[in-house]
Amino acid sequence: MKLKKLFTPLKLRSALFVTALCAAYCVQAVTVEVQADKPGAKINPAMWGIFFEDINFGADGGLYAEMVKNRGFEFPDPMMGWFKLSPSKARGSLAIRDENPFNAANPHYIHIESEGKDLFGIANEGFRGMGVRKGEAYDFAAEIRNVSGTPGLRVELYSHDGALLDTVKLGNFSGEWKKYNTVLHPNDTDAAAKLYVLVDGKGAVDLDFISLFPENTWKHRPGGLRADMVQALADLHPGFMRFPGGCIVEGSELDKRYQWKKTIGPVEDRKLLINRWNYEFLHRPTPDYFQSFGLGFYEFFQMCEDIGAQPLPILNCGMACQFNSGELCPIDDVDQYIQDALDLIEFANGPTTSEWGAKRAALGHPEPFHLKMIGIGNENWLQPYIDRYTKFHKVLKEKHPEIQLISSAGPSPADDRFKFAWEKLRALHADIIDEHCYDKPDWFLSNTHRYDDYDRNGPKVFMGEYAAQSDKVVSVKNRNTLECAIAEAAYLTGLERNADVVRMASYAPLFANTEAWQWTPNLIWVDSLNVCRTPNYYVQQLFSCNRGDEVLPVTVDAQPSPGANGKLFVSTVRDDAADEVIVKLVNAAGNPLDCDVKLNGASVAANSARAIVLGGADKNSVNSFLHSDAIAPVENTIPASGLIHQTLPANSMTVLRIKVK
Ligand code: AHR
Repeated sequence: MKLKKLFTPLKLRSALFVTALCAAYCVQAVTVEVQADKPGAKINPAMWGIFFEDINFGADGGLYAEMVKNRGFEFPDPMMGWFKLSPSKARGSLAIRDENPFNAANPHYIHIESEGKDLFGIANEGFRGMGVRKGEAYDFAAEIRNVSGTPGLRVELYSHDGALLDTVKLGNFSGEWKKYNTVLHPNDTDAAAKLYVLVDGKGAVDLDFISLFPENTWKHRPGGLRADMVQALADLHPGFMRFPGGCIVEGSELDKRYQWKKTIGPVEDRKLLINRWNYEFLHRPTPDYFQSFGLGFYEFFQMCEDIGAQPLPILNCGMACQFNSGELCPIDDVDQYIQDALDLIEFANGPTTSEWGAKRAALGHPEPFHLKMIGIGNENWLQPYIDRYTKFHKVLKEKHPEIQLISSAGPSPADDRFKFAWEKLRALHADIIDEHCYDKPDWFLSNTHRYDDYDRNGPKVFMGEYAAQSDKVVSVKNRNTLECAIAEAAYLTGLERNADVVRMASYAPLFANTEAWQWTPNLIWVDSLNVCRTPNYYVQQLFSCNRGDEVLPVTVDAQPSPGANGKLFVSTVRDDAADEVIVKLVNAAGNPLDCDVKLNGASVAANSARAIVLGGADKNSVNSFLHSDAIAPVENTIPASGLIHQTLPANSMTVLRIKVK
């Protein structure tokens, strides 16, 4: 054989190349037809929400802006987070004591005795790094009791590499416990600063509840929440907030369950509890993870009000986590758990003359919090759950028919536990059933029709926890990739098209601290100073900020089943106040797709529309602290008259907002 015959002539090669390119890219435009004059199901104004759980340092070390870890010396190792400071000449002693504490709920404190030759004391490392900013002020507070001599204190901030950031003096301490305050102004920004508390002079003092808060908290509330983290939530415009979990509601045993009544009132009265994520994963142990409850139920309600989210508290139903002990309270004792629910409704909504309404008013909120829903149990399953839920249902429906009850379908979206729950809960006429799913992106892409055939007369659905896993559930390799975000977006078009059945949805988990996480992926990553919004975050935002009021029928290439068409997923809604048709187009393919959008039954009002596009060429892209907006929505005005032509980029979600007459 002659060698040249092995090669295709150049012209032919070019033609083949162009044909191949066309096969890949020049696919004929799909036609998306919207029936703009046939509004269907009403969309729940609270449809797109958030789910907060204290996992991954979500509360202590996260949302709760306290910067001192183990401020009350109540961890089982009372010096965890603290270390002794004894410069060369300094001599003294430290002891953890509990005689005559300032507060019975926090009985331990530290006794520091100094010979006075040099400054002697302790330092705190914060929650794996204390983030301080130059130009900002930090409120220091501590309970202090003078024991002997007349020593003062030096309160200082040091950078991670030992530079002094600020120092202030405190003195003239009483012989009785008393709270002392001062303010620190660091002269530099540092992500891993340390707080030093040093005895200055000869003598002894007792110290407890040593605290440092940025003054720049959310709404500048003293002892409040991290402003940047709450802002990230507010920017989602969530319809509701589910809290405080998650498995944390259940506890690994019942004595470690979340009890809301123990989380309100003065923070020093809130007793520390180990966080179940401290020891849940052997591959991600977090020995310094505890719940101070500084972010307690009052603060949760307040935050919901601040960000316009309906509160959705989840209560323990008398069952510990079934992934752990599965401990059950005796069925006759369920009444006390039900009483907690009744009292919570009174705490949130009751008049100020009622016992629990008065407590709310005393905390500074005489107005009700307008609680409309409660979750009974988190992720519980099989007959023990149904037995307990039935009791809750009977009492609450009788006493508070205005409250919607959320019940659990268990941890999987389709297994026997799920089927069992649905059958029983349907028979009980449950209001809303909470479904959970953590699975590969493909699951989300192939389940966009999951709700098309759901019974329209049965309980409604709350997709209370879901997230696409780039590797597999509880794998440490999971990443918040664009591919996962786009798969979630595709799935959410299916929820939106079925808004008559699916009433609410929330991604999980919400927050993770890069230095102390147990679970990945998460919607928002934080370090001690910054917030990083993931591609998944932007998908949530695109849905919640473009919610609409009614679902509109839509076809793709005349097929009444958007999403069945390859990798394009579509849902359409109408925004009544704005007079806009909103079209959500998700292209989960690795190549761009041409698309013509046609409105039937309405004409385009202005000669332009808006297109908001989230996407990227590489489906494995992620956002990082350095490039936190690598994948972020971009908005443009586009021409719009009759047919709207759009090229949907590979791996993208596009929201079209079209003003109509
Ligand atoms: O979101 C993380 C955990 O996943 C939740 O605590 C639990 O409800 C589910 O198993």
